[in-house]
Amino acid sequence: MKILVVGSGGREHALVWKLRQGLAEHDIYCAPGNAGTARIAQKIPIGSEAVGELLKWAKDNKPDLTVIGPEAPLCLGLADMFAEDGLRVFGPCREAARLEGSKAFAKEVMFAAGVPTAESQTFTDAVKASDYARSLTGGCVVKADGLAAGKGVIICTNQHEATDAIELAMVGRAFGEAGSTVLVEELLTGEEASILALVDGERVVMLASSQDHKRAFDGDTGPNTGGMGAYSPAPVVTEELWPVIKNEVFERTLKELRNRGITYRGILYAGIMVTERGPKVLEFNCRFGDPETQAVLARLDSDLAEALTATADGRLSPDMVRWKRDAAVCVVMASGGYPGSYEKGLPIDGLDEADRIEGTAVFHAGTARDGQRTVTSGGRVLGVTSIGSDLKQAVDRAYRAVDMIRFEGAHCRRDIAQKALNRVVS
Ligand code: AMP
Ligand code: GLY
Repeated sequence: MKILVVGSGGREHALVWKLRQGLAEHDIYCAPGNAGTARIAQKIPIGSEAVGELLKWAKDNKPDLTVIGPEAPLCLGLADMFAEDGLRVFGPCREAARLEGSKAFAKEVMFAAGVPTAESQTFTDAVKASDYARSLTGGCVVKADGLAAGKGVIICTNQHEATDAIELAMVGRAFGEAGSTVLVEELLTGEEASILALVDGERVVMLASSQDHKRAFDGDTGPNTGGMGAYSPAPVVTEELWPVIKNEVFERTLKELRNRGITYRGILYAGIMVTERGPKVLEFNCRFGDPETQAVLARLDSDLAEALTATADGRLSPDMVRWKRDAAVCVVMASGGYPGSYEKGLPIDGLDEADRIEGTAVFHAGTARDGQRTVTSGGRVLGVTSIGSDLKQAVDRAYRAVDMIRFEGAHCRRDIAQKALNRVVS
């Protein structure tokens, strides 16, 4: 098959890597990709949000399957445009992608469907938002409605912080237009997990569980990031929770969408808080998570191209997704200063040595080629991913690989998967 992967992060490198391990050989193209994807797929120099150019390329080159990685092109309707031209595409249509593109829409769907989630109200008026925040005595969370690159969520432990956060989003427009509408939510406590599911319009096949690490520094401290590491499986998602999440989160949400005439095809990602009162949805994303995908796909033991094609065609079956018994961990190496400002263009050494460690793949995220060298070009630079017969072995391998890679200012968390390791010991 001829396959186009849209996007340029670690997620897309992992997708291309796994697509290449399938039973059949594929011609894989990546738009625009990074230095890592350029080694295993043909680079198409079109940005992931240049939807008109992507469509033109696809009309000229007729890929058998297009896999859309990031949320922005999905929210711009790239999947609809491809489908209208008879091109097979993996990723939801624009209406369905609103589950990520508008947190207010996602909440409305969840409340209508009876999906367990935090209490919440949506506001366009800052005073009313503050009044509601005051009524939530256990702290609250202020969220910009629209896409804000993972930054539009502020956790507030008291009323003063909540009023400041509402001001910042609605008056200061710290998240641009995304903050003209805000949600104020009940603050949930518990442990988080990510559950990604393939959805073919009708059927739901949940992928292996994983856990992200959103804060920049060890011990879940420091500012929020796109994700500093992930591991799979996540033991917080016990066997008993599995059917609850499938029925109460995925099936209910999809039924409600169907009632509204919306068909969901692609990945539906539920960010879940496992609370004392059961699992509750924190957010939906309309795409594979990054860096969860790197850890989850490292464990996939079946043909990814087959599963994605079947999802796009509406003929998904559970046996298309099988897992290795191994555990997997992905440690993100970031540029000095990330998630704030950082330097680009710094040479990276040790990539090939790290890649040679058993069970290890170094997925590129913010990297580029500069002549013969690989250099940094983004905040999250690499996702060093290892599998092992248990989580401890996977963690040991991943950090051994991390220690072989050098670039100026590099930083990573040293405690990826520690929560799960503590659980196994205790
Ligand atoms: P979101 O983009 O909605 O997933 O929010 C980003 C992060 O904020 C989540 O991964 C949680 O760590 C945190 N968060 C979001 N909503 C809540 C909530 N209602 N209670 C506690 N933490 C939350
Ligand atoms: N890892 C969080 C996300 O992909 O949104």
